Amino acid sequence: MKVLEINDLKILAQRRVPRMIFGYADSGSFTESTYRANEDDFQKIKLRQRVGKDISGRSLRTTMLGQDYAMPLAISPTGSAGMNYPDGEMLAAKVCETMGIPYTLSTMSICSIEDVASVTKAPFWFQLYVTKDLDFTYGLIDRAKAAGCGALVLTLDLTVLGQRHKDLRNQLSAPLKITPSTVMQFATRPRWCLDMLTTKRRTFGNVVGHAKDVTDLGTLASWTEAQFDPSLSFKDVEWIKKRWGGKIILKGILDPEDAQAAYDAGADAIVVSNHGGRQLDGAPSSIASLPKVVDAVGSKLEVHMDSGVRSGQDVFKARALGAQGVFIGRPYLYGLGAMGKKGVELALKIIRKELDITMGLCGETDINDVGRHNLIEKSLDSLIA
Ligand SMILES: Cc1cc2nc3c(=O)[nH]c(=O)nc-3n(C[C@H](O)[C@H](O)[C@H](O)COP(=O)(O)O)c2cc1C
Repeated sequence: MKVLEINDLKILAQRRVPRMIFGYADSGSFTESTYRANEDDFQKIKLRQRVGKDISGRSLRTTMLGQDYAMPLAISPTGSAGMNYPDGEMLAAKVCETMGIPYTLSTMSICSIEDVASVTKAPFWFQLYVTKDLDFTYGLIDRAKAAGCGALVLTLDLTVLGQRHKDLRNQLSAPLKITPSTVMQFATRPRWCLDMLTTKRRTFGNVVGHAKDVTDLGTLASWTEAQFDPSLSFKDVEWIKKRWGGKIILKGILDPEDAQAAYDAGADAIVVSNHGGRQLDGAPSSIASLPKVVDAVGSKLEVHMDSGVRSGQDVFKARALGAQGVFIGRPYLYGLGAMGKKGVELALKIIRKELDITMGLCGETDINDVGRHNLIEKSLDSLIA
């Protein structure tokens, strides 16, 4: 199969990866209405075609958090990425280094902070989940600091877990429960099984052996359930920022009032995100939420976005609506699941090419000049929440 767009990688990933692992990525919470809206709303935005301009020498280079990057794209933190392909997070971080964009490692990754730091010189970003076991949280911050991470991404929209029906139906659990259905899910994906035997990294690398009393997957399941801290608030940003000492990004903001609160709490940047439709079903799409957030705080701090980005055209539209950085979660997971390192590379190259062509056909040569003037204003009427 010739891979031309992100959806091709999704199809290939579905063929190679066991159903419960593919389904873990390809799912939203409850009815999945927000999950669908994230992608659908991008299609509502129409681009202004411009001609008769010299569009040679185009440049996608831009800055995020004061650093220079090859394009305004970053990888979102995704837990369990390394279950899609052996050593997945290490491979993806290396690809990001080569392509000149930031990689964000999740607290719930399979490869640990130290694993990823051992294969890349580029300062990757680290996403923090705050746990009730504060010693463990302090440890994570200190380890990210020791690894030279470039920014701490604090996720605010998962203090209670959204219910994802696919995970329950596919009997996803850690440790895995042996049932006829789960056995079949793995037995029908022999190539994935053989590949995973080539690595020792098959559990949550940042947690096992680091959190008190978590020594294996059996104890991990009960630990995760008990540990996510529902009392996390904007007030906590102060001590986290103090301990971290570097740039902090608050992720999971949809509402302009929360964006203001994030600014007041000392955020250097925010990510407009609904967690890829995995948390509050019924919330507006990220792209529909972006303009009001940009209006509220865009002049004071960097606004980034994720959720639903599936092409370079989507990156262009988000950038035009004021996102300084645009993150992708599933597109990279599909690349990883389809063909490992090569698949992540392909995903990023597809998006880069689409972004470059779109920018040119909109009459722009520098991504930093892209703005609302590149969109058909009327097409935004039905979109903005
Ligand atoms: C399989 C999967 C795991 C995720 N795990 C995390 C996580 O550990 N931490 C986090 O902040 N966000 C997590 N997210 C949310 C992503 O960071 C991001 O917000 C979302 O994937 C963006 O939407 P997209 O997948 O449509 O690009 C996860 C998303 C997926 C699909």
